[in-house]
Amino acid sequence: MEERESSLNPFLQGNFAPWRMEGDAPDLEVVGELPHELCGTYFRSGPNPAFEPIGRYHWFDGDGMVHAIRIAGGRAHYRNRWVASDGLKEEREAGRALYPGLLEFGRMEIPRFKITGNTNNVLHAGKLLALVESSLPTEMDPRTLETKGVYDFGGKLAGPMTAHPKLDPVNGEMPFFGYSPFPPYLQYYVADRSGAIVHAEPIDIPWPTMMHDFAVTERHVVFLVCPIVFDLANVASGGSVFSWQPERGTRIGVMPRRGTSSDVRWFETDPCYVFHPLNAYDDGDAVVVDVHRYQQLLFMSPEAARDPNWRDSQVARLHRFTMNLATGALREGALDDHEGEFPRVDERRVGRKHRFGYFATTGPEGNPTLQPLFTAVAKIDLERGSRVELRPHGAGNGCGEPVFVPRHDAADEDDGWVLYLAYDAARNASELVVAASRDFTGEPVARVLLPHRVPYGFHGNWFANVG
Ligand SMILES: [Fe+2]
Repeated sequence: MEERESSLNPFLQGNFAPWRMEGDAPDLEVVGELPHELCGTYFRSGPNPAFEPIGRYHWFDGDGMVHAIRIAGGRAHYRNRWVASDGLKEEREAGRALYPGLLEFGRMEIPRFKITGNTNNVLHAGKLLALVESSLPTEMDPRTLETKGVYDFGGKLAGPMTAHPKLDPVNGEMPFFGYSPFPPYLQYYVADRSGAIVHAEPIDIPWPTMMHDFAVTERHVVFLVCPIVFDLANVASGGSVFSWQPERGTRIGVMPRRGTSSDVRWFETDPCYVFHPLNAYDDGDAVVVDVHRYQQLLFMSPEAARDPNWRDSQVARLHRFTMNLATGALREGALDDHEGEFPRVDERRVGRKHRFGYFATTGPEGNPTLQPLFTAVAKIDLERGSRVELRPHGAGNGCGEPVFVPRHDAADEDDGWVLYLAYDAARNASELVVAASRDFTGEPVARVLLPHRVPYGFHGNWFANVG
């Protein structure tokens, strides 16, 4: 008998395994005290396959699930729901998985995929959107988490939307993009504060690529074209949908926020991959982008992940690119040597010069697994010699993306709390840690104990006064 994928694949085991129950848990147990200024909802998105996969499973494949923790008046309440996609409904009817994953594209006669909404969420113009970069967004009710259906901005969005739109903290605009293996390979959009798409431009890029995220400044957008290339010929012969082609190098494009393809200034540098920029800003004639940079990206292919040098080249570290628009020169360099991912800034600094960053990182015990298992969160102070403070949780206790919440609207950068989900292996359950950012390594002000584990996932966001 063929072994089940879930008994072979580490992304279906331990706290990567799906949690297959939807529920509501009012008045969670809180260790410590939730600050009364904290009033809003933390939404965390992640992959959570409802059925045993057909064929090989990639972490990016799972059905989306949103976990929401609503905090108000010192109390916390939990709710989780699947992103109820049409594909998932079809599978529920059948009682089994019907859609193969990313690693099986080559084996499908006609590739079909679910709109999983498994990667990130955004609340803009009153709409909560569950996002996955292959597809249109899915609208959910921010309070009940009921899935309302696929959302296309009133017919203005024809193709996929990145899972990483940016929210401009000053004018409320939401710049975003979508990428595709077919022309136009990149499409750029701006939604205004009311949620109307007011700018839509196809952007010429040198090759079709998996562009997971981008960056914005007050005046510019920054596109990172890395040498992970859509390879449809390879798919036709049963291979991977992406191929790593380092000889192409990396191109970084800088364009005015309301620009067009012909306005893009391109800068070339060494091959690398970036899932997530930390932030970007204008600095005179220059545009500065801080990112978590990988030397290469092989893990789309499980075979490559068996390379003994996998870990060294497959970890990301904070790195700064500075593109001078007057001289055409690109400068770059490492900011820090911790392995990390899921970098975030104070959302009020998006597109503006930031001093602090927060990210998930490997704890002092290292990471012996091939999974992106981060057991600590870090805070970096870029004005104090890139000083890094760590909150380690110990081996096996994975931590998710840290999100900064200011004490109040006018509080200084870093004056507030850092929120993240941590898995407690001893309790086999997760908790929301609320750490005072200015006492980063101290006891957290509160730990919200969830009634069960939340599988390791992707991105979380705090939206004030919601829920
Ligand atoms: Fe992401």
